Amino acid sequence: MEFPFDINQLFSEKVSILDQSLLGSRKSASRPDLQAHIATVIDELGRASAKAQQLTAPITSASKLQTQRHQLYLMKDGESNGGRGVVVGFLKVGYKKLFLLDRQGAHIEAEPLCVLDFFISENVQRHGYGLELFDFMLQHKSLEPTLMAYDRPSPKLLSFLAKHHCLTQSVPQVQSAQLRKVPLRKPDGDI
Ligand code: ACO
Repeated sequence: MEFPFDINQLFSEKVSILDQSLLGSRKSASRPDLQAHIATVIDELGRASAKAQQLTAPITSASKLQTQRHQLYLMKDGESNGGRGVVVGFLKVGYKKLFLLDRQGAHIEAEPLCVLDFFISENVQRHGYGLELFDFMLQHKSLEPTLMAYDRPSPKLLSFLAKHHCLTQSVPQVQSAQLRKVPLRKPDGDI
C-alpha cells in the first residue's frame, strides 16, 4: 500500500509496534506532522481491512487505537516505491473478556489475548507476509497460537490458522447471544 509520503520516515523498523501513543519511531515523537501521517496510514489500513472482510465499518482506526489498550503490529517493505517504502499490512491484538463454552456446555469466563484485526495488502497476500507478522507477534508476546482467541475469524484467517498452525477445531464463544468460533485447540489436543 503506497502513500504520498515517506513510510521509512514514519516507521524505522520492518515491524513497528504501535499503541495508544501512535509512535512509529523516535523521530515521530516530536513531529506532529509525522504523527498525522501515521494516523492516515492506520485509518487507511483499517478501511482496507474492513473492505476485505466485508464489514460495514472499520474496527481499526487511529482514534480507536488511541483510546483502546490494543497493540498494532505494522509491517513495511522499506525498499519499494523508489526507497520511500510501502505498508505491507498489520495485525492488531488485545485482551478481551470472553465467555466460552466447555464440552459440557458450561460457561467459562476468560480474558485471552485476541487477534482483533489482521490484514495484508491484496497484491501481496499468499506471499508469506501474514505468517511473518503473526510469528513476530507470537515471539514478542511469548505465546503459542493455541493460547490465543480469534475474534470473528474470516474464512481466510481460518484457512491461514489451519495451514500454518494446524488449528482446525474451535471452542464456541457466547457474546450478545451470538455463537462465534474461536479456534483454540489443535486436533486431538486440549484447550
Ligand atoms: N483464500 C483462502 N485462504 C487464503 C487466502 C485466500 N484468498 N489468502 C491467504 N489464505 C490463507 C491460506 O491458508 C494460505 O495458504 P495457501 O496459499 O497455501 O492456500 C495462507 O493464508 C497463506 O499464508 P500467508 O501468505 O502467510 O498469509 P497472507 O500474507 O495472505 O495473510 C491474511 C493472511 C492476513 C488472512 C490475508 O489473507 C488477508 O489480509 N485477508 C483479508 C483480510 C482478512 O480476512 N483478515 C482476517 C480478519 S479476521 C480477524 O482478524 C480476527
